[in-house]
Amino acid sequence: MNNYKFDTLSVHGGYSPEPTTHSNVLPIYMTTAYNFDSVEHARSLFALEQTGNIYTRLQNPTNTAFEERISLLEGGIGAVAASSGHAAITMALLTLCSCGDEVISSSTIYGGAINLLGKTFDRMGIKVHFADMDDLSTVEAKITDKTKAIFAEAIGNPKADIADIRGLSEIAKKYGIPLIIDNTFATPALLRPIEYGADLVIHSATKYLAGSSTVMGGAIVDSGNFKWKDNPRFPEFNTPDESYHGIVYADACGNAAFITKVRTHILRDIGACQSPFNSWVTMLGLETLSLRMKKHSENALKVAEFLQTHPMVLSVDHPALPGSKYYRLANEYLPDGCSGVFTFEIRGGREAGAKFCDNLKLLRIVANLGDTRSMVSHPATTTHSQLSDEQLLAAGISASTIRLSIGIEDVDDIISDISAALDACK
Ligand SMILES: Cc1ncc(COP(=O)(O)O)c(C=O)c1O
Repeated sequence: MNNYKFDTLSVHGGYSPEPTTHSNVLPIYMTTAYNFDSVEHARSLFALEQTGNIYTRLQNPTNTAFEERISLLEGGIGAVAASSGHAAITMALLTLCSCGDEVISSSTIYGGAINLLGKTFDRMGIKVHFADMDDLSTVEAKITDKTKAIFAEAIGNPKADIADIRGLSEIAKKYGIPLIIDNTFATPALLRPIEYGADLVIHSATKYLAGSSTVMGGAIVDSGNFKWKDNPRFPEFNTPDESYHGIVYADACGNAAFITKVRTHILRDIGACQSPFNSWVTMLGLETLSLRMKKHSENALKVAEFLQTHPMVLSVDHPALPGSKYYRLANEYLPDGCSGVFTFEIRGGREAGAKFCDNLKLLRIVANLGDTRSMVSHPATTTHSQLSDEQLLAAGISASTIRLSIGIEDVDDIISDISAALDACK
């Protein structure tokens, strides 16, 4: 499959008609368990002497097809599906960190992830330091002997700020720390972080991968490029895992050490596995990923250009607009488009923001993004409402910030709707 190009992999990656039924389309294997040929067969599967299905918490053929497709699209060596984006982030970090360890995260990430990292991980004794990743020196300054990961979103939620993945990767490599990029907004159709040095890629498949606000999902993709063997930061990869037959991941699994440990240790224990049905729906979404991402990106840029001309708009934060702080990075990393999500500041603060949202007819007020339907949200009262004023400021969000997730409808209809709603606020 590796020889095929992106759009072919989007349709065929991970599945070809299986030999029993010759089903043309990937079947949904709604089963929790699998028959073993014999006790010896079961033993060898559990001992990782051969690969095969054991139990759906660990693997399932429909999930496997999704894992192979997303891995091929990202240019990785393997993936693990998860029940949500948060499940993927949690399992990736728990594979790397124990109590007392540290992570450096961008401060401009999804508000729910700021809570997860800053509060829930903190309760487990894993300290997450938030950094302004526009200034790479602040990232390097926060590295200690305990740092186990650097985490950023390729395109930040909601401000559509762009991570300098190459720069972050140079720092991460210098200290032997894996760089994790959440590629939910860009998707591999617009950006493949591994090509710029990311070691691990995370997805909320709930968004553009599934694409129509139908199912929750997540994925962790391993580049296979990180050196786990004899890395002093990661004794857990270089000493026997007593919970799994004494396996030493860096020795037994080579460059697949991480993604194997995610499955055999953390997915096994945490249990945040994906539903085969949700993987199947996500596979349908992936078939049209690049078509959709192109249209989302084109529509969003046209809407951003329109907003710049409207008197009710104070500013527009879209990275592909020439005035944007991220224009250079957008050209470097996202020449084919920057997805459908961006923000703008409305004149008149919270009150005008609410009036604008309430006056939209085509765009829906929804706590989600990455849908074929255009949607609006007010981060300060929804997705980022748990953040302190200080955290909101660090994430670049104010009471008058409006987030748009532009769909694939006719852009003239989207602009008419937004224009009428803005006029109603005058
Ligand atoms: C960039 C990003 N990553 C992760 C998540 C979490 O994903 P999920 O809602 O599927 O748990 C979100 C949710 O909005 C997100 O925007």
